[in-house]
Amino acid sequence: MKNVMKHFVSAMALSVGLAASASAEDVEVLHWWTSGGEAAALNVLKDDLSTKGIGWVDMPVAGGGGEAAMTALRARVTAGDPPTAVQMLGFDILDWANEGALGDLTPVATAEGWDGVVPSALQAFAKADGKWISAPVNVHSTNWVWINKAALDATGMASPISWDELVAVLDKMKENGITPLGHGGQAWQDATVFDGVVLSMGNDFYKAAFIDLDPAALGGDQMAEAFNRLIKLSSYVDSNFSGRDWNLASAMVINGEAGMQMMGDWAKGEFLKAGKVPGTDFVCIRFPGTQGAVTFNSDQFAMFGVEGEGAVAAQAAMASAIMNPTFQSAFNVVKGSVPARTDVPNDAFDDCGKKGMADLAAANTNGSLFGSMAHGHAAPAAVKNAVYDVVTAAFNGEYADGAAAAAALAEAVAAAQ
Ligand code: GAL
Repeated sequence: MKNVMKHFVSAMALSVGLAASASAEDVEVLHWWTSGGEAAALNVLKDDLSTKGIGWVDMPVAGGGGEAAMTALRARVTAGDPPTAVQMLGFDILDWANEGALGDLTPVATAEGWDGVVPSALQAFAKADGKWISAPVNVHSTNWVWINKAALDATGMASPISWDELVAVLDKMKENGITPLGHGGQAWQDATVFDGVVLSMGNDFYKAAFIDLDPAALGGDQMAEAFNRLIKLSSYVDSNFSGRDWNLASAMVINGEAGMQMMGDWAKGEFLKAGKVPGTDFVCIRFPGTQGAVTFNSDQFAMFGVEGEGAVAAQAAMASAIMNPTFQSAFNVVKGSVPARTDVPNDAFDDCGKKGMADLAAANTNGSLFGSMAHGHAAPAAVKNAVYDVVTAAFNGEYADGAAAAAALAEAVAAAQ
């Protein structure tokens, strides 16, 4: 393995000059972008690479949040046959770098000045030991709510900006005969909602609980209240929510069957794919009580060790194409996310995208930008999975109350470290 890596690293270094003109060489790409909106965004990437002579071998592994994709990846690496490029999130990237499985994109990153344009919050996951190990394609954030505009108008209320206002709107939607909350009962989706709920208890609290993993915050009164809020939210879903895919929950909001969905901004990709217009057909707001703060996750493409100069050159060319500012605009307009570089103009983005870009920049300056627990940017996978278990159990009514759930969370996170 060491020799292969050595060869890989030096070939990568030699290949930067070839990056722009790589001859037709395939990259096999493992990803979980299988919904309508995600596939549309993926096509922007595929088409861009094909104009550069880079062939695409698709390895889709369905399952929002990427858990199934990471299991498939582990199997491929164990079999000694890793894909060339892998969609990956946060701490997972650092874990694979620690295992020595990733290549070194530093030559292409240096040649193109990535250090100066990629926000440091992303560099924390894109670099290991001072070397670039992956190419960030976007920045998503999880503390969003997507509301059907007609359903909101029918409540006679404004977009909620506090927990109490949110509950009032949800109650009114119920009265109006629709499912207030479009949701899919999968652990990662429950956890995505919980990102927003925990952040709504305060920025300092989110940081103490989910970034610092402070036992007192994880098991204390504020966490008990956060779980009580989550349990309250679970009362607004329909009876078929269990196991539903996130994009089907988006569809419920799109067609007016449900009032709103609490989901990261990949949900916007589904609304756009369905021809819906922000401000007219749907409204995007920050999870009530989290205005000014952002829980982010960034999809990156990590490159695994491959042999052969052509293959390595294709990886470098793919990384270069991903980091191109024009591509970052075109891709993220479709995906619902915002660019992973600070120098991309917002002209092509709709109002939700413009808000996403402004919120990210402001949060980054104000110290209110935090990694998403649900999407692997707050803590390593073992902790994340422990959080998933407790959050899902709470959503499904398995604890007597929020205090019992908070106690279980503190215990589960301690055991996972
Ligand atoms: C996230 C990923 C997004 C989107 C979502 C649902 O983890 O960052 O790009 O794909 O899962 O699949």
